[in-house]
Amino acid sequence: SLAVLLGLVTLVLLEIFKLIASKSRCPPGPTPLPFVGNLIQFMKDPVNTTRSTLQYGELCSMYVGRRPMIVLNTYEVVKEALVQKGSVYSGRPYMPLIEWISNGYGIVAVTYGHAWRQQRRFALHTFRNFGLGKKTVEERVVEEAHCLITEMLKHEGKAFNPMHPIMNAVSNIICSMVFGDRFDYDNKRFAKLLEILNENIRLSGSAVGLIFNLIPFIKYLPGPHQKVRQNASALIGFIREVMEEHREKLDEENLRDYIDAYLVEISKQESKEDSTFHEENLLMSTADLFLAGTETTTTTLRWGLIFMMNHPEVQERCHEEIVRVLGYDRSPCMDDRIRLPYTHATVHEILRFGNIVPLGVVHQTTEESQLRGYTIPKGTEIAPNLMAIMQDKEHWKHPDTFNPENFLDENGQFCKNEFFLAFSLGPRVCLGESLARTELFIFLTSLLQKLQFSWPPDAPPIDMDGIMGVIRMPYNFSIICRSRERSVPSSPVTP
Ligand code: HEM
Repeated sequence: SLAVLLGLVTLVLLEIFKLIASKSRCPPGPTPLPFVGNLIQFMKDPVNTTRSTLQYGELCSMYVGRRPMIVLNTYEVVKEALVQKGSVYSGRPYMPLIEWISNGYGIVAVTYGHAWRQQRRFALHTFRNFGLGKKTVEERVVEEAHCLITEMLKHEGKAFNPMHPIMNAVSNIICSMVFGDRFDYDNKRFAKLLEILNENIRLSGSAVGLIFNLIPFIKYLPGPHQKVRQNASALIGFIREVMEEHREKLDEENLRDYIDAYLVEISKQESKEDSTFHEENLLMSTADLFLAGTETTTTTLRWGLIFMMNHPEVQERCHEEIVRVLGYDRSPCMDDRIRLPYTHATVHEILRFGNIVPLGVVHQTTEESQLRGYTIPKGTEIAPNLMAIMQDKEHWKHPDTFNPENFLDENGQFCKNEFFLAFSLGPRVCLGESLARTELFIFLTSLLQKLQFSWPPDAPPIDMDGIMGVIRMPYNFSIICRSRERSVPSSPVTP
């Protein structure tokens, strides 16, 4: 037993020496512990740990287990890395949990290179150029917003959790683009699918994902990680069914959606040696679009409702502006942004203060690089600290409070702020940015036009840090919604 003890002590000492040597080459940061790095500190208080990394300077190092991760804390350094040195800083690290589920296919987790580029370009091109059926995305969002309002009004005056209707509505937009279909809010199978999707995002961003990535061997053991895989199989099974249906009804002259376009692309590229278009990639890329397109906008709208209930004066000002410009009945369109500067600013402020992807999606360097005097080795994990940048005291009028004035000039007109980085920057910038902006503006304007939201009288105080994973989600909450009185005579402005 003495030999074992000596062995253990030697192992720990070696680890400490390795850590000291590694740390001396890295930018400053909180002191890591052997084997676990800064994980314990991070998991104890993820929000404040993320916010406070700025104290170490424009870039700092945090240890995820034994590996250093370089956190980029200012806009200038994020721009230098992700834009000016975009091809070096746009890799993705190998994540055993994701690899176990996706076999290395898809878009979000695939590293910088040919496969990622082909899949990303194809998705962007399909979304942009191909008609996506008969209706524009904007028209689809307007229609879905009506369905969401009708659904919410079924609970009028009574406390209810808005999670499912919001998630179903948001998901229906990406579903209609990808699967060519929407799902009714009482569709039990789809509701179950959304539940498992949410569970997977939570589990993989929690200790379950962190532990799996440190000790992938646990895939052979029972535990919550098995649930993640089971859930992913259910989701992929669903997409496979849809794909088979599409294959049977495929009409090359009349492509209905992304899956149709993808099936055609598989045959078109069949003879090309470097084609990455095949069934496995179709399933995983579709799963990525479905996941990324559902959870993010849903979470932003849920934070939005919380901010509106916490700040009734902002909610009232948006409503007044909307009915003054649109009246009670005209549906909003994207061109209305210019006529609705306060509401437009509120949407941005929800994204800024909601901070739903606080540390971005982790990047990795594809080769050695120099950054602000440090040598960053090839294969280093890089996290753009979007939260610190969007709350940087130097660049925001009201960094630590929810205040749409952050996006308004002295004349009450909307003004952009270049430090607004909700969608990140560079070659990996959010692929769904334009879709998300359409969804958020139309959903929020429609909801605030027709409904008034408040906390139920007995609502417990809500923890504003939320649940921190890759996505920062609010805890479950209930709301009360009421239909707005049509008391203000309105003369709507036509678009
Ligand atoms: C990536 C934010 C909505 C699809 C990302 C990233 C962020 C982000 C921060 C990481 C970029 C990076 O790696 O530096 C958001 C926010 C959204 C939103 C705040 C809504 C409020 C959407 C929607 C879609 C989508 C609606 C649907 C298509 C993606 C994809 C990626 C991505 C596929 C991975 C891109 C790549 O790795 O090349 N998003 N997103 N996102 N987003 Fe979004």
